[in-house]
Amino acid sequence: MVDVVPTLQALRPRDVSGRVAVVIDVLRATSTLVTALAAGAREVRPAATPREARVRYDRLAAARGGTEGLLLGGERMGLRIEGFDLGNSPLEYTPERVSGKTIFFTTTNGTRTLRRAAGTRTGGGGARRVLVAAFLNATAVAKEVLSAEGDVVLCCAGTRGGFSLEDILLAGFIAAHLERNAPFVFRDLARAAAALYRSMAGEDGRDLARAVAAADHARHLTALGFGDDIVLCATLDTTDIVPEYRRGRVVVP
Ligand code: MLT
Repeated sequence: MVDVVPTLQALRPRDVSGRVAVVIDVLRATSTLVTALAAGAREVRPAATPREARVRYDRLAAARGGTEGLLLGGERMGLRIEGFDLGNSPLEYTPERVSGKTIFFTTTNGTRTLRRAAGTRTGGGGARRVLVAAFLNATAVAKEVLSAEGDVVLCCAGTRGGFSLEDILLAGFIAAHLERNAPFVFRDLARAAAALYRSMAGEDGRDLARAVAAADHARHLTALGFGDDIVLCATLDTTDIVPEYRRGRVVVP
């Protein structure tokens, strides 16, 4: 069975319980996570709030006797949080900046969706596995889902409680791949997402960048000066890593 949950707020424990969850926040949390890990970050530890990220960072720094190898990253209102090393632009997460580092990371919707899919917020009943997807690793994620077998739920973060076009398009890309390659039963929103991807991005994805750039959140980020992020986040298959959220850490297994 393939299902899609359109927003963080719509995600209930029973949607993911015992299933493979794929967390999607194209603009920009999961694109940034994939970029950071592809650039050689050791691990990313998602936090629900800036304060939680800071407290956990300080605790680990105290235990290690220094902040060497540790970074704080994330956004509120799209912008870098005061006192943090990095914001939520994937372009900041270069190998020079993040290679070998542990990054405490918090974003408005994306990191909360990860934790909810894993059952962190609800204290259990989470997904069997939680994979992290962006267009940057979309085909690799689709192949991993096929080899993992069992039911899959594509968990879109959305933006401020609403549906995000770019997230549904990535859910549609993955759903279309699954449709072509295995006999899954599709729930309505998965079928609709696959059809939307084909109609807006084209079977070969040639119109993907244009479709993503027209999304509400893309226009908002462009107005904030992050236009280059939109281009990067709408690029297909630049890496074949499939990050996974396990026991509070996002790692490349
Ligand atoms: C989020 O998690 O809400 C987004 O990644 C926000 C952003 O684009 O910075």
